[in-house]
Amino acid sequence: MSKTKTPLADHVDMRLVSTDAQTPADERNLIVQLDPDHPGFSDADYRARRNRIAALALNYKPGEPLPDAHYTKEEDHVWRAVWEALRPAHEQYACAEYLSCLERLSFAPDHIPQLREVNDKVRALSGFRLEPVAGLVEPRVFLESLASGVFLCTQYIRHHSTPLYTPEPDVVHEIVGHAVTLASPRLAELNRLFGNAVRQTSEPESLRRLSHVYWFTIEFGVLRENGAVKAYGTGLLSSAGELAAMARAELRPLDLKAASKLEYDPTQYQPVLFCAASFEAMFDTVRDYLWSWKE
Ligand SMILES: [Fe+2]
Repeated sequence: MSKTKTPLADHVDMRLVSTDAQTPADERNLIVQLDPDHPGFSDADYRARRNRIAALALNYKPGEPLPDAHYTKEEDHVWRAVWEALRPAHEQYACAEYLSCLERLSFAPDHIPQLREVNDKVRALSGFRLEPVAGLVEPRVFLESLASGVFLCTQYIRHHSTPLYTPEPDVVHEIVGHAVTLASPRLAELNRLFGNAVRQTSEPESLRRLSHVYWFTIEFGVLRENGAVKAYGTGLLSSAGELAAMARAELRPLDLKAASKLEYDPTQYQPVLFCAASFEAMFDTVRDYLWSWKE
């Protein structure tokens, strides 16, 4: 792991960094690789487990029962370590909508839940479904599947040497971040609308703007609740480090046109966040923006 990445705890969602509008939408497993500075790059056992878990997704066909990944004790320990860091951070910084969904999904703190179990609960609450993917997918593939109410979900967990750091979305980010928020019918609706907007978009520049709005809302959105700043963004809610950094971020009023143009660095804690006046104000603003989306 490089020194510049060491201080960054948890999640970075690289799925939204490149927006190549030409990528065919059926290439959902296009990118499956570990970078040389990945914490697990030189761990042969970890790579073998990653490959076994990737194979589950590569062999999966939509509509089939979701395959279980058999996690090791070491991997369950990673989940526990993350959970211990997140519990107090959620109490302090998570919005009420998120906390209510988290309670309904009721994860065990001592082992990684199977996608199958989480999917059953999320489907019952909002109709959204989870489907496994082997690793990072192209942004268009990832975003377009949201229109069908499908969230493409990785199943592997970060390397045990860095329980509070991952250079890519892993099962912690997917479940603690995305799956929990997708259990909220209102947040699920916004995800569907993002997918619909992406489907209507062919210009790379327009797709880039949409992905920036997604980044500053679904991934890193914050809002006010009883005078305090709370997170509804999945990148914040799946990382104790990001939640702590949120308190130091520059807050700007929620302005999606401005968000669509603002550059961001996914390898650093986010220094600028867009803050809605309330959950309702956030929902109305994002929904109206996506309803009236024209590239
Ligand atoms: Fe994400």
